[in-house]
Amino acid sequence: MSYIDSASGASYPDDIARWCGDTGAYLDLAPVPGLRREAIDTGERSIWRYAQAIAVKRSDAVSLGEGCTPLLSRNWQGVPVQFKLEFMMPTGSFKDRGMTVMVSYLKSRGIEHVLEDSSGNAGASLSAYAAAAGMRCRILVPETASYPKIAQIAACGADVVTVRGSRQDVADAALRMSSEIFYASHNWQPFFVEGTKTLAYELWESLGFRAPDNVITPLGYGSNVLGLERGFDELLRNGEITKMPRIFGVQAANCAPCHATWQSGGEVPVPVTVTPTVAEGIASSQPTRLREVVRAVRRSAGAIAAVSEEEIVSALGALARMGFYVEPTCAAAGAGLTQLLASGTIRSDETTVMVLTGSGLKSSERIGQLLNLQPRTL
Ligand SMILES: Cc1ncc(COP(=O)(O)O)c(C=O)c1O
Repeated sequence: MSYIDSASGASYPDDIARWCGDTGAYLDLAPVPGLRREAIDTGERSIWRYAQAIAVKRSDAVSLGEGCTPLLSRNWQGVPVQFKLEFMMPTGSFKDRGMTVMVSYLKSRGIEHVLEDSSGNAGASLSAYAAAAGMRCRILVPETASYPKIAQIAACGADVVTVRGSRQDVADAALRMSSEIFYASHNWQPFFVEGTKTLAYELWESLGFRAPDNVITPLGYGSNVLGLERGFDELLRNGEITKMPRIFGVQAANCAPCHATWQSGGEVPVPVTVTPTVAEGIASSQPTRLREVVRAVRRSAGAIAAVSEEEIVSALGALARMGFYVEPTCAAAGAGLTQLLASGTIRSDETTVMVLTGSGLKSSERIGQLLNLQPRTL
């Protein structure tokens, strides 16, 4: 397996862990063969049941039992939808899928101390996997991050540092520290997407070895979008599915750089004005892999939607009343699906998956305010 420099196309062996190329650009991983259904390790109840498709040795795995999340059939706006409960992961968000693979790889290459910036969930996930791997860990988060996420990171033993300013200011601060500690940013390190790709494998297996027609997920830096593309592409190349599902990414209109570029029809990042959003996990104004994300969505014949704060809050309430207690970031997917159904882009006779990426338990205070929840007093 080798890294590929996204700017120069140069390849670097992966026996030494790196987070960027000699050009300073982010790295990709060369394509891997993937697997056919006979190769699933059905006795393993985690993403490592697809170990043969993952570019990290099974014997190196640092696992907390991530993956194998439920897929439930319910209705959304009267239309049948499959809900993928990614918030039922060890640390409460979909990030664990990517983190188990990234940490396993870094540990196998001798990395003992990692640095990451995060809106909260990736930091919580990395701190847990670093603890499981016996690594030291420093996480930078926005000062406005939900407190339960900060507490979760600190409780796992990481050195958590809050940074004043935007999500981008946090990423910039981490970049400045990257000469001191190995920068294990999940948005730069391609082994993270090597893990999120197992979402595609799991959907395929849960649907009886078929691909859905549409998958809809909240979109910030795009690790789920890129993982879905990588995983389904491997299944296509192995003849296990016959078509790529349409991939839909949903951004908060208050911070929608991928949507702006998508709408321009090109891949060159379009500058956007950013204002605060309740969807803290997707408040990413300069996604590292924006071009790749837009390209992946376009190749899949999907789309990138942008939803208002009111639409997010309305979807948050609707999901909670179905029993899906998710965080506001995650509700953006519900708001996006409402739009896509209304415009006729997604039809009721198609198999549509909504990815529920993060637990509401980490954002209860904010959810209480947003939904104006007031218990009655006797
Ligand atoms: C709950 C939740 N959903 C979705 C996302 C977006 O993921 P990505 O930035 O990889 O697109 C995040 C990112 O932090 C998140 O925390």
